[in-house]
Order: sequence, then structure tokens, then C-alpha cells
Amino acid sequence: DGKSTTSITVVGASGDLAKKKIFPALFALYYEDCLPEHFTIFGYARSKMTDAELRNMVSKTLTCRIDKRENCGEKMEQFLQRCFYHSGQYDSLENFAELDEILKEHEAGRVSNRLFYLSIPPNIFVNAVKCASLSASASAGWTRVIVEKPFGRDSESSAALTKSLKQYLDEDQIFRIDHYLGKELVENLSVLRFSNLIFEPLWSRQYIRNVQLIFSEDFGTEGRGGYFDHYGIMRDIMQNHLLQILALFAMETPVSLDAEDIRNEKVKVLRSMRPIRVDDVIIGQYKNNARWDGVPFLMKAGKALHDKRAEIRVQFRHVPGNLYNRNSGTDLDLATNELVIRVQPDEAIYLKINNKVPGLGMRLDRSNLNLLYKARYSKEIPDAYERLLLDAVEGERRLFIRSDELDAAWALFTPVLKDLEEKKKIPEYYPYGSRGPVGAHYLAARYNVKWGDLG
Ligand code: BG6
Repeated sequence: DGKSTTSITVVGASGDLAKKKIFPALFALYYEDCLPEHFTIFGYARSKMTDAELRNMVSKTLTCRIDKRENCGEKMEQFLQRCFYHSGQYDSLENFAELDEILKEHEAGRVSNRLFYLSIPPNIFVNAVKCASLSASASAGWTRVIVEKPFGRDSESSAALTKSLKQYLDEDQIFRIDHYLGKELVENLSVLRFSNLIFEPLWSRQYIRNVQLIFSEDFGTEGRGGYFDHYGIMRDIMQNHLLQILALFAMETPVSLDAEDIRNEKVKVLRSMRPIRVDDVIIGQYKNNARWDGVPFLMKAGKALHDKRAEIRVQFRHVPGNLYNRNSGTDLDLATNELVIRVQPDEAIYLKINNKVPGLGMRLDRSNLNLLYKARYSKEIPDAYERLLLDAVEGERRLFIRSDELDAAWALFTPVLKDLEEKKKIPEYYPYGSRGPVGAHYLAARYNVKWGDLG
């Protein structure tokens, strides 16, 4: 309401994520009038900087991408005037107490809400949370902390991290971000499924042959080699982004759209999966879940590949006794329906159907029923961080990871990660910019699956 005030403190303000994503997302929210009436933004980091220097740094990454309205420059200036900076150590109660003083001046006696975004390396998370909560939490309003992965590197270290955080914060103050959950097409997944009769009844082993979750990037680990050597692609992409999509995709119908109802269903589905084994490496399969019994779920994620994409591919079963398979000369495998949800780039949902090629003969091909977002919607799609930051300000927890979800996700991946490390399994090398390891095809073939992104 008009009487309270909200501050958003970006801890680690001079880092890459803050510059590239967080400040621009905050500006976009401001531009769209989504932020509370009274708000201030604080940058907090070790380097010495004045408010003016922070504003200058931030201004370089702000764009008026939403639409080129004339007042954009003006809005930017107003936004920057609300940004301030305080320099301090991440583990100093004293420095956070100084921040507290400055925050209080801005709050001017109003009920204050404080959101901290921890955009800092994991080894200093806990200290920063401790200092923020002991020295700088709100006295009357709420205090919330957004944390971003890595949340540990296996079940054990993740549980230890959760335990330490909970010494200082309640679960409902912790907002674990997975920015893939803020992506438009991931948000749309349950609309697509639960509000369309032509999909909802088909969403099970009865009609679906396999589900593929594919992530690729056409650039490598440049500049992040150290992080990657320690965490690797399975922890960077699969255990979180792809697994979250899988959980949303495969969960049972939640009782309602409330955060707890949705997260309860996601946890159930994660718990019903069998932990991944070494010889699966890029494949996960359900154990005793009636809906998905026997349906392979495949994940593929990599960097330095030939293209950049994130998509979900749902391959349907054959039409029993399909009249057109007998004489048409079409390859049975290629002729089933496939639903593709392209999360990025160029957001789209399309359905591959069999269709008759026009002409006097009878030849079939696969054609797309295509919903291309660019063609259908004129409004630009907000960045994932915009949705998630707004949700955190509003206390909406639906798209954040609850601690039991996190435990379940680690339980699936920890055994295989440990095994891979112990056995020192040598990865299959592939050339930069190629289509990735050939082994991926053999692996898929073992489950009678062909990757859909190649055809
Ligand atoms: C991050 C990973 O979580 O997601 C990066 O750490 C990856 O390695 C990035 O590049 C991909 O996000 P997006 O939104 O660019 O697809």
C-alpha cells in the first residue's frame, strides 16, 4: 500500500548477473509500473563506488526494450535516481548495520519491506545471509532473500546449506530462484496441458512414447571455466532447469494453482523417479509412477554446440493399425505426432501431424501446426527475471523452489554424480560447434528413441 516502503538490495551488485539481468529486470518492472509506489534499490558489494558511479554502471545495461516509448529516457533517469550504493564486506555484521542505517533513512519511519538478492558466490551465501538477517532485516514489514544456484553440489552439501540458511531465515523468507521457471513457455506449460482437452487426456504412458528435454548453447564455458570444472553441465542445467521443467510437465493435476499445491505435486513426481544410473548419464526414467510407467524421459544439455535452443519434445505413440503405414512407404518411426514446445529462441509451440501431400497420388508427409509467438503476439516477452523478481516482491512462491523439492532433485542426481566422479569416467569429446557426442544417439537408441531435434 501507499504507506509502506520496499527496498531491494542487490548483494554482489558489481557482478555479471546483477549487471546483465537483475538491474535491467528491475528497470523493466519500474517502466511497466509494477514496482511498489515507494521503493529504493541498493547495490551492495565490496568495491568502493559512489551512488553516481553505480548509476553510471547500471545505466549502461538498461534498455527500453519493451517498446520504444518516447518517455523511456526520462523513466530511466527516474529509476536511476532511486538506485543507491553501499560498499561493504559480505561477512561483516558492521557493514550490514551501516546499510541498515541508510535503509532506515530512506524508509523514513514507514513500514518497511526488505528484499535481498544474493548475487554472490555460494561459499559466501551463508555469511551474507547471517549478516543481512542479523544486522539489516526489516523491523516491521517482511524480509525476504532471493538465492540462486548452485545450492550445494550434492545432496549432502545442499542439505547443509539449507540447514545453515534456516538458522537465520524461515523457509517462507527464502526464495530459491530457478530462472527457467520464469520463462514464458515454461509458465505456459500447465495452461497448455490443463486447459486443452486435446492434450490433457493424452498426457500419459497411454499416448506418449517419450519426452525429450533439450538444451544447447552455441557458446562454451568461456570465462567460467573454474565454475564449470567444479560443477559441470549436469549440475548447471539438468539438476535444476531441465528437472524443473520435467516436474511441471509430468506432475499430476494440482488441487489448485496455489504455490503449495503446485509444489506438492512437483515434489511427488520427483520422488517417484528412480535415481539416474551411470550408464544412463543423459537419461532418466520413471520407476513406479502409474502415469509414466515405461515412458523414457531424456535430457540432453551441452555447451559449444551447433545451435542454441531449449525445448521440450513430446513424441506420441503410433495410431494402432494405422491404415497409412502399410503402403505409404513412410518410416513408422518418423510418422508419429510430436508436440514441440520451444522455450527459446523464437518461442513457439508446434505439433507435427501427418498430412497428405497435395496431388493426385497418396503421399504423406509431416507438417507443422504452428503457433509462432512472434507472429501471434505483438507484445515482447518479459525476461524471466522480471516475472520472478515481481513475484518475490509480491510474496508469490509458486515459481520458487521449496526445500523439499530441492532435496528431491538432488536425491536423483547425487548418486550418478558421485559415481561419475569416483569412476573418473572420461567424457566423450566433441568438436566445438558440432552436434555433440555420438553416444547420445546410442543411448537414445537403447530406449528405442530418436532425438527429435535432428529431424
Ligand atoms: C544458467 C547457467 O543457469 O543458465 C548458464 O549457469 C547458462 O551456464 C544459463 O548459460 C542459460 O540461461 P538462458 O536464460 O540464457 O537460457
